[in-house]
Amino acid sequence: MKKTVVLLLLTLLFLIFQTSCQKSKKTKFVIGVSQCSDDLWRTTMNQELIRETSFHPDIDIEIKTVKDDTELQIKDIEYFINKKVDLLVVSPNEAKAITPIIRKAYLSDIPVILVDRKIETNDYTAYVGADNFQIGKELGMYAVDVLKGRGTIVELRGLEGSTSDAERHAGFIEAIKDYPNIRILAEGRGNFLKADAKAEMKRILQQHDSIDLVFAMNDQMALGVREATLEHDCKAPFIIGIDALAGAGGGIENIRKGLEDASFIYPTGGDKVIELAVKILNKETVPKENTLYTAVVDKSNARVIQLQTDQIFGHQKKLESMKVLLNQSMIQYSNQKTLFYGTILIVVLLLILLIVSILAYRNKNLLNQKLEKQKEQLVSLSKELEEITDGKLIFFTNISHELKTPLTLIIGSVESLLAADNLTEEQGKLLNLMKLNSRRLSNLISQIIEFRRYENGKMEVHFVNSDMKSFLEDLNSAFDSYVKQKGINFSFICGNDFFEMYFDKEKVEYIYFNLLSNAFKYLKKGGLLEIRLSRITKNGKEYASIQVFNEGELIPKDKINSIFKRFYKVNYHDAGTGIGLAFTSALVDIHHGEISVESENKGTTFEVLLPVEQSYTGESIDYFSQKDYVRDQYELALQNSSRFMLPDDIPDENKSVILLIEDNPEVRDYLRLMLAKEYMLIEAEDGNEGVSKTIKYIPDIVVCDVLMPNMDGFKVCQILKKTV
Ligand code: FRU
Repeated sequence: MKKTVVLLLLTLLFLIFQTSCQKSKKTKFVIGVSQCSDDLWRTTMNQELIRETSFHPDIDIEIKTVKDDTELQIKDIEYFINKKVDLLVVSPNEAKAITPIIRKAYLSDIPVILVDRKIETNDYTAYVGADNFQIGKELGMYAVDVLKGRGTIVELRGLEGSTSDAERHAGFIEAIKDYPNIRILAEGRGNFLKADAKAEMKRILQQHDSIDLVFAMNDQMALGVREATLEHDCKAPFIIGIDALAGAGGGIENIRKGLEDASFIYPTGGDKVIELAVKILNKETVPKENTLYTAVVDKSNARVIQLQTDQIFGHQKKLESMKVLLNQSMIQYSNQKTLFYGTILIVVLLLILLIVSILAYRNKNLLNQKLEKQKEQLVSLSKELEEITDGKLIFFTNISHELKTPLTLIIGSVESLLAADNLTEEQGKLLNLMKLNSRRLSNLISQIIEFRRYENGKMEVHFVNSDMKSFLEDLNSAFDSYVKQKGINFSFICGNDFFEMYFDKEKVEYIYFNLLSNAFKYLKKGGLLEIRLSRITKNGKEYASIQVFNEGELIPKDKINSIFKRFYKVNYHDAGTGIGLAFTSALVDIHHGEISVESENKGTTFEVLLPVEQSYTGESIDYFSQKDYVRDQYELALQNSSRFMLPDDIPDENKSVILLIEDNPEVRDYLRLMLAKEYMLIEAEDGNEGVSKTIKYIPDIVVCDVLMPNMDGFKVCQILKKTV
């Protein structure tokens, strides 16, 4: 479906492109017109050319006119050739001089229509104009008739070298040659110009005073003759001109005004020229010679002709105004057409858009449905998972509860056994180890149970009003000997602030011991462990701030945000359950406090903010302190660490040597107790140390833990197998 829409769109665009291309394709023909003069006759012809062309919107016309200057006319024709006009219309000033350039145009495949005058070759497409020889002849016959076979004539000729002049003259002579009593008295060159004709006539009048008839080769020259005769004050000769143009200043008006006596219509033929041009441009064949007919106009018919031409002019004017209206309608029509196509285009585009939108909407709905299904599946899956996890946790909590009683019994029994006074040293140690580890287990289980209570919103709080400073100082005493013997730089900084506040002692003890045990664990050898207790105000609320700082390795930036998550461990090889900090955070939360960590520069600082006031205090109960247990643990760790250094550099030749790689000092301690009698024991507290001691002492057997910091047991084995 999408493909169909795209196809439809492309087809539409192609059609639009096609239509616009068709419109912009060059279909306009250009006709170049070169006129040899700029008199009334030429102007009339040009108007006809323009008017006729306007009926053909696919044709443009460009007219160039010179003032009887052959050289300039050649240049104009050259210009049209270079412009590569589609058709050339020329009225050549002089036949001979213009012939080569017209041949050039004709031979370079530009159709040429000659008007009024001809050239010396047949290299043109068509000729439009009257037969000048015929006009000359008819005019001669008319003159014979006027003179009744007897009289004197002056001939005022046109431009020398033009075919109209030569042919008119030849026709005239042909007509009068058979009348011996008709004599051409004089001949002058009027060049088809009034002024030239007048000057020539003046010259002739000075030589001849009895002139019966003057043949002027156009009406302009006839006017010049009339002016000359009037100025000479002689008998007015009968003046005949050629052209007989209608309208103001034309021959017909001249006759009516008595300025000349007769004229022969010499049709301008602009309409005929365009008619032929259109046919030629449409590749139709046209006759080469297109003769326009002539007729005489004199006093007898001038008025009728004038009336007729006036009528024609009237019609023409109406036609022109109709044409203007038609043009306006055409423009309107074309605008409406564009608007129509535009509207259709917009409608089609809107339709396509609608289809695309509907499709997109349908697809979106389908996708949404799919997503909804997936979401439902995920929700039910996560519910299932939650149920499973909950089940596991409930099971885990139940087990924890179940473990609590046996452990309490074990601790009680061990304590009873320890009270006996006949114990060997080894028995005492083993019983102590049992007691401590059972306590540790019991402690851990208590934390888990409490944490579950917290998660289920069932953790109980018992806030009592007490002095935080002395409370913490008292807890610090659990580490006294550990700190001393280990040479730890331990400091507890507290100002003279007032630290009476509400807190749950058991829980704050957990918080504090957890933070300190963490700090001891990651404290660098000989590093500083600093506790800062202060009273601060945050957002208008009073807090006790407990900061625990230890120098040592930093917590990686990407892990720092997760360390308060349940079961999260920065390093999975580290000993511990990963519950410590999560539980600590839970205990802080139950106090409506805040816990944060910062690990940069030299070490790590945990900060706990505990509100000084609590809105609800709960029932006050006696709490069970962990302090003694914590002290025992740290002291045991001391014994272990001080002992493990002893035997490794005193080899006993009689015993097999065991290298023990184990990071947990208590496990090491236990194994030592078990093995030390029969074997020589060397101990290492991590993988690195284990590898280097193995290389140094080459023991008989290596006993190695798997999960250890820095280097695990697998890596140790790999290295030892390769190197030892
Ligand atoms: C116009 C004109 C006409 C005349 C024709 C002869 O330029 O002089 O008056 O009839 O040319 O070519």
